Amino acid sequence: MNKVVSRQQLSRGITRLEIQAPRIAEIRQPGQFVIVCLAEDSERIPLTIADSDPQRGNITLVIQNVGHSTQELGNLRVGESLFAVTGPLGHPTELPDQGCALCVGGGVGAAVVHPIAQGLHRRGVKVTSIIGARTREQLIFETELRRFGDLIVCTDDGSHGCTGLVTDPLRTQLAAGPWAVVYAVGPAAMMQAVAELTRPAQIRTIVSLNPVMIDGTGMCGGCRVSVGGVTKFACVDGPEFDGHLVDYHDLLDRLTTYHTFEKSGPGGAKDHCKL
Ligand code: NAD
Ligand code: FES
Repeated sequence: MNKVVSRQQLSRGITRLEIQAPRIAEIRQPGQFVIVCLAEDSERIPLTIADSDPQRGNITLVIQNVGHSTQELGNLRVGESLFAVTGPLGHPTELPDQGCALCVGGGVGAAVVHPIAQGLHRRGVKVTSIIGARTREQLIFETELRRFGDLIVCTDDGSHGCTGLVTDPLRTQLAAGPWAVVYAVGPAAMMQAVAELTRPAQIRTIVSLNPVMIDGTGMCGGCRVSVGGVTKFACVDGPEFDGHLVDYHDLLDRLTTYHTFEKSGPGGAKDHCKL
């Protein structure tokens, strides 16, 4: 059993939980994720490890309420426990040893770029982050990302930072390079847009994919994605891939497969997309 040791409502529908998982806290690396089960018969929900505190034996997870199971998870209170937390899963993020890196996080993707920016900063890489959300209220991890370098904030409605999508300040930043690498995490359409902007100058671009996941061990095939014309399993081959090689049309198609079931509760809920 993994106990919830702290809980913070980041915005409406987005919750941050700190959970006891000492072994995972000790060995996790940027880019890795866990699969959590609230109860023995619950859905398995994949979540990126947003942060960890090896001394206290805790990991931080950020949960966006997109269906019945994620709502239950986000409603957990301090002192309550999860039945199981499995991980760390997936390959760690490929991090350069020097130079400058850009981290782009759209919406809840800001929590996923956090460990990447943290890992880069610890290596001495100069980090610039761009995060965006629809409104100020939905913007998360602003304070945390500011610790690792320059931070540019934007909102679709202009309620905080500059007005526009993350790709707007990205254009200016790309022109001000050189960049060793660009990381992008967020909605599939955002990651595709980032990859198209970095493609002309062939700037290495890494995206974190969030397809449906079930077992997380490469057995079920649920998380298959097409990268460079080859089928890959995001759980064991990823979750991060070369953003210039991902087939986003296929990814978007598979991501929308369960939309009609998402809100339908036990038996119908499909909260398996990695958050
Ligand atoms: P959202 O739709 O509110 O968008 C957040 C921001 O992303 C926007 O404010 C904008 O700045 C940018 N953006 C969105 N679409 C864009 C486009 N077409 N072009 C350029 N910029 C764009 O995001 P949300 O609801 O917080 O995010 C949820 C999505 O992110 C889900 O699909 C979720 O599965 C995905 N996600 C993926 C991962 C991962 O590991 N890959 C992690 C977390 C979330
Ligand atoms: Fe089953 Fe990846 S989640 S193969």
